[in-house]
Amino acid sequence: MSHAPLILAIETSCDETACAILSKDEVIAECVYTQAEHAMHGGVVPEVAARDHQKRLPNMVADLFKSSGCQVKDLCEVAYTHGPGLAGCLLVGHYYALGLSSSLNIPLRGIHHLEGHIMSAFLDDSALDWSDRFKLRCPSIVLIVSGGHTLFIHATLKSYQTLGETRDDAVGEIFDKIARMMGYSYPGGAALSKLASKGTPQYSLPRPMIDSKCVDMSFSGLKTAARLLYERLDLHRLNPEDHIQLRCDFAASFEQAITDTLLVKLARAVDQTDSKTFILCGGVSANVRIRHALMSWCLEHNIECLMPKMAYCGDNATMIGVASWVRRDLNKVIEAPAVRLRASIDDL
Ligand code: KG4
Ligand code: ZN
Repeated sequence: MSHAPLILAIETSCDETACAILSKDEVIAECVYTQAEHAMHGGVVPEVAARDHQKRLPNMVADLFKSSGCQVKDLCEVAYTHGPGLAGCLLVGHYYALGLSSSLNIPLRGIHHLEGHIMSAFLDDSALDWSDRFKLRCPSIVLIVSGGHTLFIHATLKSYQTLGETRDDAVGEIFDKIARMMGYSYPGGAALSKLASKGTPQYSLPRPMIDSKCVDMSFSGLKTAARLLYERLDLHRLNPEDHIQLRCDFAASFEQAITDTLLVKLARAVDQTDSKTFILCGGVSANVRIRHALMSWCLEHNIECLMPKMAYCGDNATMIGVASWVRRDLNKVIEAPAVRLRASIDDL
């Protein structure tokens, strides 16, 4: 059965190579490959990542069509992540999508990576068109917590307005840095949170900027405090195998400090708008403690709470495809999130 028209979506902004095919209301096929070679370097090596995207992307797209039985003639649009992200990586996705769309003579659409993350929350089991799922939830407050960004956004049908953002490190970034200090390879956020799930948050760490009225955040002081606590507990010297509970309690205390800070800032964001819907998204939205805490807060305050399924928390092309369908149906009326781009095609 044909699901035409279809959008092919490409994501290559960092270390995930991903492609997906979506109809106006359904995910038809999807594939994500996570590059493993960065783990030993403690972070993503941009040049290595870009080359790997270049090597894999064409075969991944070909395999996606072959395994799903979809045909390129059924495509109505090619969507790709245009930023923010690593410049070389973005270029690979951009030129691949450009080549394909021009050879098929169909539109090419660049999608903001953060808009993609927002749309990941709509990848549910509803039968509605993607754009109707989005329309139903506007206006809403969105918290994006990823490796490169941490910000609250007020999303309406017309625009995304930033309510507050981190002034220094992103939440995913400090998860990865503290995880690295504990001996985990990059990205260590998920490993740290696994440890934290077996611990008690009994150690005191700061909740930065919670007394300030604004929605802005700052996490670098918490990172330093966590480092000092780690040394004070002697964890940098003790054999990890012999002190598992201590490590779990340390991880839980760190995670709880972040969670409490996000909770306070969510309350501030809610106070500033009249939205009755909250959306949590970005790689760190896979964190169980943060998910539970924010969900319970919303329940208590009568606010509808949406979060992506675990499989869609991290970078993927499916969310880029949803964003493309939403933009297509709403005739591009929404403005892209107005956030600082770290390094993107726009900088070249
Ligand atoms: O959104 P994402 O996949 O990539 C960016 O756009 O940055 O986010 C990746 C980030 C990494 O920092 C990773 O450690 C973090 O999400 N992350 C987690 C968890 N799973 C992934 N952080 C905390 N707890 C988790 N369970
Ligand atoms: Zn991301």
